[in-house]
Amino acid sequence: MTDDRGTLGRRSFLKASAAGSATFAAALESLRAEQAKEGETAARDARPIRIAIIGCGNMGCGDLAQALKAPGVCLQAACDVWPPNLEAGLAIGRDEVTAKHFPDERILKYYQGIYGGRSEKDRAEALKVAKAAKGYADYREMLEKAKDVEAVIVATPLHTHCEIASACIKAGRHVYCEKMMAKTIEECHSLGKLARDSGLVVQFGHQQHWNVWYTLGNKLIHNDKICGPITHVRAWWNRNGSWLRAVSEEDVKLIDATKCGYKDVNQLRNWRLFWETSGGLMAELACHQIDIVNWYLAGVPTAVVGMGGLDFHKSDWGGDVFDNVQCIFEYPGGVKLTYQSISTNSYDGQGEQFMGPEGTVIVSRKGGFIYREPKTAALGWQQHAKTTKNAKGQTVIAMKAGSSPGLLGGANKQKGQAIKGDDKKGGDKEKDPYHDYRLALGDWADCIREKRQPAANWEMALRAAVPCIMANEAMRKKAYVEIGAELYTV
Ligand SMILES: NC(=O)c1ccc[n+]([C@@H]2O[C@H](COP(=O)([O-])OP(=O)(O)OC[C@H]3O[C@@H](n4cnc5c(N)ncnc54)[C@H](O)[C@@H]3O)[C@@H](O)[C@H]2O)c1
Repeated sequence: MTDDRGTLGRRSFLKASAAGSATFAAALESLRAEQAKEGETAARDARPIRIAIIGCGNMGCGDLAQALKAPGVCLQAACDVWPPNLEAGLAIGRDEVTAKHFPDERILKYYQGIYGGRSEKDRAEALKVAKAAKGYADYREMLEKAKDVEAVIVATPLHTHCEIASACIKAGRHVYCEKMMAKTIEECHSLGKLARDSGLVVQFGHQQHWNVWYTLGNKLIHNDKICGPITHVRAWWNRNGSWLRAVSEEDVKLIDATKCGYKDVNQLRNWRLFWETSGGLMAELACHQIDIVNWYLAGVPTAVVGMGGLDFHKSDWGGDVFDNVQCIFEYPGGVKLTYQSISTNSYDGQGEQFMGPEGTVIVSRKGGFIYREPKTAALGWQQHAKTTKNAKGQTVIAMKAGSSPGLLGGANKQKGQAIKGDDKKGGDKEKDPYHDYRLALGDWADCIREKRQPAANWEMALRAAVPCIMANEAMRKKAYVEIGAELYTV
């Protein structure tokens, strides 16, 4: 797949636009139809691929379930140092999840019947492999013993990505490694070099490239030139909550975490809260958004300044990463990206806002808006488009057709308006066959079969990771930090 897969040509977009009030619905439907057609072709040619997973936590289980929805994919082995998560991973593959694995009913429902979309024969074959699948606490042992495993999902904490993904590549396995690519620039370079030279399919967890809203946003900016030349970008991810996971006395007794590289069980369970194991908000959230900005601007940041702090969760988090960050990134041509991520207020939710003299395009994982500048002539289809009010009461064109007025999750929630899809597993995501995670994992399997390099490859992952690592450095040093071109190459 390329960045352009499933995107909508200008002609078909305008044709859809002219159709009247269904402007974005038609554009989206056409886009989805193209993607579905490609999905059918892939399903017909699906030879079995035996996979393993390392790290069966929140994201690992999600990635595994999405991978197992792709025809031909079978779980042959699983690895996790935390026994309850290892059991959950194996249970997903065997289609035997219970409330013991996922006490939350919505999450449990999400993981039940994951082979639903596959043919009876294909499902039976996958289940046969999964019933015999073995669980491991040590990924090295798994790589050595599970000889038939062709490809591995790596969804462990950030500080282990380079070590574990590199071991998989060296063992000749294709890899789907979660974002962020790796914790340090050196690790990113080392993993990038290995991926490049291996000839294997090494894909990273930047699934937004398979997201219909982001694909449509890119078309609106580049084909339909809604903004004119982009002069400024604003991106934000605002949440109101804590990353802290409760660790009980029973948890502490379950394993000796020092044997698998953690200070204690708390650090294993709460790895996101420590600089030693995490990159904080920049690695967990911003790296997805920098990836989108790089994509739309076809460039990478050349410098960053920022301010961050652990100011509001000092007492409850017990770690040391920042709980709020504000950065400005410089892109070539004078374009600046102002970035904010906070954890004490969810107003505006998550989004990326691209601004130019003609207008503004706001995108998110769930939809988007277009806002034309007052002096800009209306587009031919604009009078027919579905309009709504944004949080500030301005009239905007909703990219999202259907029940939700769009993107501004926090504000919309406060007004009591329906939001389609959400951050939690389950709900509308489950009903959406074009969900970006599913497409990303399905395409990984297709890349392996077709000996094709993935879109979200090491170069894309490196371009997203480097600015985040440098932003953390800028915030820690309270300095203007240049990002040399050499950091983006290996
Ligand atoms: N692409 C996305 O949208 C997205 C979303 C969330 C998280 N992520 C990424 O996925 C990764 C995992 O995040 P998560 O939320 O699932 O964390 P998690 O803590 O829920 O899961 C991590 C799992 O790895 C296991 N683990 C830790 N060290 C290990 C080791 N040495 N060997 C084997 N297993 C080990 C842990 O026991 C745990 O089960 C992170 O890199 C995170 O940034 C990506």
